[in-house]
Amino acid sequence: NQVKEGTFSWSSPSNIALVKYWGKKENQIPANPSLSFTLNNCKTETTLSYSAKADKGISFDLLFEGQSKEEFKPKIQKFFERILKYCPYIEYYHFTIDTKNTFPHSSGIASSASGMAAMAVNIMSLERKLNVDMTEDYFDQKASFLARLGSGSACRSITGSVVVWGEQRDIPGSTDLYGVNFPFEVHPIFKGYCDTILLVDKGEKKVSSTVGHDLMHNHPYAAQRFEQAHENLARLKKILIEGNLTEFVALVESEALTLHAMMMTSMPYFILMKSNTLQIIEKIWAFREKTSINVCFTLDAGANVHVLYPEGDKDFVQTFIRQELAQFCQNEQYIDDKVGFGSEII
Ligand code: PMV
Repeated sequence: NQVKEGTFSWSSPSNIALVKYWGKKENQIPANPSLSFTLNNCKTETTLSYSAKADKGISFDLLFEGQSKEEFKPKIQKFFERILKYCPYIEYYHFTIDTKNTFPHSSGIASSASGMAAMAVNIMSLERKLNVDMTEDYFDQKASFLARLGSGSACRSITGSVVVWGEQRDIPGSTDLYGVNFPFEVHPIFKGYCDTILLVDKGEKKVSSTVGHDLMHNHPYAAQRFEQAHENLARLKKILIEGNLTEFVALVESEALTLHAMMMTSMPYFILMKSNTLQIIEKIWAFREKTSINVCFTLDAGANVHVLYPEGDKDFVQTFIRQELAQFCQNEQYIDDKVGFGSEII
């Protein structure tokens, strides 16, 4: 092996799903297709150092913000084990992974999407070093494929700005195996679309997404939900092309509440929203009613609220957020973000 040692650094963004992925089959295959906006400011920056070793096997050290971090190691170990079949060369290197997030630590923002995406693109940089003829498309597709094995939604954090994951008949090229760029021209109203993330509850998630996905097996409404996701994605495709914000708002909020409805109707059942989450939703609805500005919310598997609005309404909406919504956030903390462009080499 000619490639002895070296270092790569990548920054990978988080993403926010508009049509949600909730439920999966074997090998991280999604039960339904999803679509997300890639974010711009919430990122994980990971430096991967590799050095060739004589013995075979998975071997790595993990640093988080420069400090050794044992509790994150099992997730990375599992990631390496899952990708080994597709990247056999990793057994011949020892890795040092040095990673940090641009968003506040334990903010309740899941770093699994950005973190696993950053791991995947770093591994693909090594693969490209070993196989110099690789095309950009192959790099992106395989990076997304590998990221998926780390955390499903991570496969939507390789490229930007609108990414579809999961086979859907109205989206040419869509596949369960990796995320693809939305293959149509998006209406200009969605360029630089804003997402302010309100940090309602910064605590550890009570229910991991792995457990949540599993609860969709034998869920009484699973079949209808998976069917609905297909329909919503077809509708969203049209909305994104045409720029119909009234329909956008209705579809995005319905998807968020459906995700939480699935959690509330699983067995065991759970509620991840907090009372402040509901207060914020009511404030957003009142503001929209009063101003006719197309601001809406979406939710992840947690209590935090993503407030989505067009760039043109930024000043007005951000004043509203500061004056009326910040009070419902822990320590009045929120993050202004917007649609971004995907992973970048540093
Ligand atoms: O990637 P996971 O397994 O953490 O699942 C994420 C699921 C949601 O964030 C709730 C929805 C989505 O599509 O991102």
